[in-house]
Amino acid sequence: MSYNDTFIRACRKQSVETLPVWYMRQAGRYDPEYRKIKEKYSLLEICKQPELAAEVTLMPVKKLGVDAAILYSDIMNPVASIGIDFDIVKNVGPVIDNPIRSAADVNKLKPIQVEQDLPHILRTIEILAAELKVPLITFAGAPFTIASYLIEGRPSKSYIRTKGLMYGEPEVWFKLMDKLGDMVIAYLKAQIAAGAKAVQLFDSWVGALSPVDFKTYVLPTIRRIFAELKHLEQPKIYFPGVSSGELLPYLQGIDADVIGLDWRVSISEGRRRVGSFYAVQGNLDPYVLTAPMSVIQAQAKAIIDEGIQEPGYIFNLGHGLFPEASLEKLKELTDFIHDYSRQALKA
Ligand code: CP3
Repeated sequence: MSYNDTFIRACRKQSVETLPVWYMRQAGRYDPEYRKIKEKYSLLEICKQPELAAEVTLMPVKKLGVDAAILYSDIMNPVASIGIDFDIVKNVGPVIDNPIRSAADVNKLKPIQVEQDLPHILRTIEILAAELKVPLITFAGAPFTIASYLIEGRPSKSYIRTKGLMYGEPEVWFKLMDKLGDMVIAYLKAQIAAGAKAVQLFDSWVGALSPVDFKTYVLPTIRRIFAELKHLEQPKIYFPGVSSGELLPYLQGIDADVIGLDWRVSISEGRRRVGSFYAVQGNLDPYVLTAPMSVIQAQAKAIIDEGIQEPGYIFNLGHGLFPEASLEKLKELTDFIHDYSRQALKA
């Protein structure tokens, strides 16, 4: 099998014969084989075994026929290196024993040392880069999203303490954004040096902010991250997460190549808001996957019809896959996206 680079071509807004597709959280609990592995090992234990982490990364690529792999890891992994103890608790998410609440807590954070503290992640990337016939996407959590876990200590719906620190102690907030920005830059550079073919910055929860607060408290760090990576040829994706439609116009000018959209904004409207410079990625509502196949296909078709209006479109979900999703339906959807887009792009 020859190397399939349609994903990279689409990131660069080059023409493709078939649309590329991958799914956020494509390695996961919807797959019985993955659940079996999880009976023996936790997420963090899998990440510490490069051969196993590589195998888990490859599972959806083989089973679904997607056009990109995403490294099996978690956005929390790098914070171990800056001095944060965390755990990923089943059905809860990241939990931290010593949350960050003060200037002293922020001052204590150390610079990341990727080679020293996260060699297993770099080794997994090396294994995958040598084995894969599709591009490997690696990723980092964006500063706001990581900060929300570090400050709240666990997943939150309101972000009450995060916003409290942001508004109440802006100097401490900006220091934290700077430190997390440095962490993300060093981590993504090391991933690319190890063989990643594209990187995605996950800002899953930043849609909790008003556009003005996003622009004031978060965007400067996002700009700096992408500016620092600009000279690297590997495509960069910014995913501003759920409910981020109103933030999209403010992204114009960041040195990313692709913007991820959630399902609350159509592909055409998303393109209008971010401008014609960027490729776009998304945005099927993951919970549509609970519908009958005819409904899933009709919604995918409507998205593809908009996506192919211009070069630079990558099919994905608007957020991550959930444990109850069906492997069979996902396979059928992937085949449908490939077959239908091949026909539609020819016409
Ligand atoms: O996409 C992939 O297949 C690659 C693996 C991946 C994981 N986490 C593995 C994981 C990726 C890209 C992530 C990113 C991540 N982690 C994000 C950003 C993406 C998003 O969904 O918005 C966030 C916010 C996290 C933090 C996190 N980790 C949450 C909220 C949870 C869910 C808790 C739960 O149990 O439902 C996790 C745990 C986690 N990370 C799982 C996986 C496969 C599920 C639990 C497990 O299988 O051990």
